[in-house]
Amino acid sequence: MSATADEEPPVVELDNVEIVYDRTFLAVQGVSMEAEEGDIVALLGPNGAGKSTILKMISGIGRSERGEVTRGSVYFEGEDVTNADTKEMVGRNVTHILEGRRVFEDLTVEENLRCGLYRDGRRIRYDNSDYEIAFEYFPQLEDLLDVEAGYTSGGEQQMLVISRALIHRPDLLLLDEPSLGLAPQLVVDIYETLRKINREEDITMIIADQNAKRTLEIADYGYVLENGQIELQDPADVLMNREEIKEFYLGTSAEESRYSDIRHYKIRKRWK
Ligand SMILES: Nc1ncnc2c1ncn2[C@@H]1O[C@H](COP(=O)(O)OP(=O)(O)O)[C@@H](O)[C@H]1O
Ligand SMILES: [Mg+2]
Repeated sequence: MSATADEEPPVVELDNVEIVYDRTFLAVQGVSMEAEEGDIVALLGPNGAGKSTILKMISGIGRSERGEVTRGSVYFEGEDVTNADTKEMVGRNVTHILEGRRVFEDLTVEENLRCGLYRDGRRIRYDNSDYEIAFEYFPQLEDLLDVEAGYTSGGEQQMLVISRALIHRPDLLLLDEPSLGLAPQLVVDIYETLRKINREEDITMIIADQNAKRTLEIADYGYVLENGQIELQDPADVLMNREEIKEFYLGTSAEESRYSDIRHYKIRKRWK
C-alpha cells in the first residue's frame, strides 16, 4: 500500500490485481487503481475490457459469479478486502448499481424507493421519509410515485435506481454503464446530477462507462481499460485532451463514441 501513517488511505485501492472466472478465464490482469475520498473515478474502455468485473470484485458480487482475485490485493479504506463477499462490502457502506437499470417493474416508483430503506434484507432506515432525499436530486420522481416502475421511461428508471442507492447513504457508489441506451441530453442531465450528489453528499463514485466523453466531464480521474489491463490513466481533464482519447474515444456524438472493432484494433496498435 502506498498510504503512509499521516495521510488518509484511498477509499478503494487495487494493487496489481488479477481476476479469474471459473478458475480458468483470465478477465483482468495487473490492474492497479485507486479512488480517493470524494472523487469520481471513470473506468472506461470497450465492451469486454473488464470494467464490470472490477466493480463486481470491489462490491463482492463477482464472488457469486465464480470470479476470484487470484493475484494482488483489494483494499477498502486501508483494510484488505480481497475476495470479501457482498455482505461484508454492504456492511462497509458500498453500494453497487448494476448495469441495466434493475427496477422492480410490478412495484410502484414509491415502493421501489422504499426498497432503498432495506439493505441485504435488513431495514437500515426507519423513517419512511428517508427516501425523500431522492426528490432533492430527481424531483421528477415525485410525480411518478404511484406509477408502476415498468411503465416509466429508461431515464426515469435510471433516476430511480440511483435514488434507491442514494437512500442507502453509501460511502462508495459503484455505477455500471449508467448512460447506456439513454438519449444524449438525458445523459448530460443525469451525469450533472451525479456530480452534484458526489459533491453534496460526499459520496465517492466509480463509474464504468463506454461513454468516455460524458464520464470524463464529471470525473476527477480516469482509467482506460483494454483486454483486462489499464492502457491509460490520468486526471480526467488531462485524459480528455490526450490524442488517443480525442481521436478514438470521444468521437462526436454519444453513439459514435461507442467502439467498433476497427477502432478497437487501431487503439491497440497505437498504444502498444
Ligand atoms: N460471470 C462471468 N463468467 C465468465 N466470464 C465472464 C463473466 N463475466 C464477464 N466475463 C468475461 O470477462 C471479460 C470482461 O468482461 P466485463 O468485465 O463484463 O467487461 P466490460 O464490463 O468492460 O464490458 C469478458 O471477456 C467477459 O466475457
Ligand atoms: Mg460491463
